[in-house]
Amino acid sequence: MTVTLKLATSLDGRIATAAGESRWITGEAAREAVHRLRSEHDAVLVGVETALADDPELTVRLPGYNGAQPARVVLDSRQRLSPECKLVRGAREIPTYVVSTIEPEPVLIEAGVRILRVRAVGEDRPELRTVVETLAGEGLSRLFVEGGGQVAASFVRCGLVDAIEWFRAPVLIGGEGRPALGALAIAGLAQAPRFQRTEVRKLGQDLWERYERA
Ligand SMILES: NC(=O)c1ccc[n+]([C@@H]2O[C@H](COP(=O)([O-])OP(=O)(O)OC[C@H]3O[C@@H](n4cnc5c(N)ncnc54)[C@H](OP(=O)(O)O)[C@@H]3O)[C@@H](O)[C@H]2O)c1
Repeated sequence: MTVTLKLATSLDGRIATAAGESRWITGEAAREAVHRLRSEHDAVLVGVETALADDPELTVRLPGYNGAQPARVVLDSRQRLSPECKLVRGAREIPTYVVSTIEPEPVLIEAGVRILRVRAVGEDRPELRTVVETLAGEGLSRLFVEGGGQVAASFVRCGLVDAIEWFRAPVLIGGEGRPALGALAIAGLAQAPRFQRTEVRKLGQDLWERYERA
């Protein structure tokens, strides 16, 4: 199983304004690169807050692309995902999973969503090692985690992030914006997870930095 974390941030590491506006921080070339990265993974994963705030499709949309679409996965302990959202409405065309810790919601199942019930930890959220193993059992072994900040931090905290694709735009959002990474609860710098940079590219006005686990 490989886990790649994608971050599209301001210069000061914010992924949205305080009100949750995130479209678009980075430019078109960076967004196209994200679509190409999606096409190289088996599944794209987000937290339910991102699904509720952005109503994303998480599909590969590139001119002339007719390859497979990655599955979509939402971490959603209590199945708060709206049956009206694009992910649910497209669940019959593209495999769409909700990872939850409670009994499956009939309305989501009827819409074609596959509910994976996994054991809970901490704040009754799905335990991520079990999530990753369960997804691998579904044949989804290249996972592209697209946020938001809470989900990104959970994957980093569990030591599950193998690579980071960081798109950074020359804009400042400030401390009240949403952080790219939630709390990591590290005791000191020695415990801070380190990555090594493997590549830096210019994409229009943005920078694309690529990292691997050190
Ligand atoms: N610029 C970008 O690249 C980018 C990308 C994505 C999102 N965003 C923005 O980020 C904002 C949302 O980010 P966010 O940090 O507030 O929320 P998030 O990470 O998208 O979702 C967090 C929610 O996921 C659920 N969850 C389930 N299992 C979890 C786990 N193991 N660890 C963490 N969360 C888990 C929790 O809800 P339950 O407890 O109910 O399960 C939690 O409240 C939106 O404004 C969106 O626009 C920006």
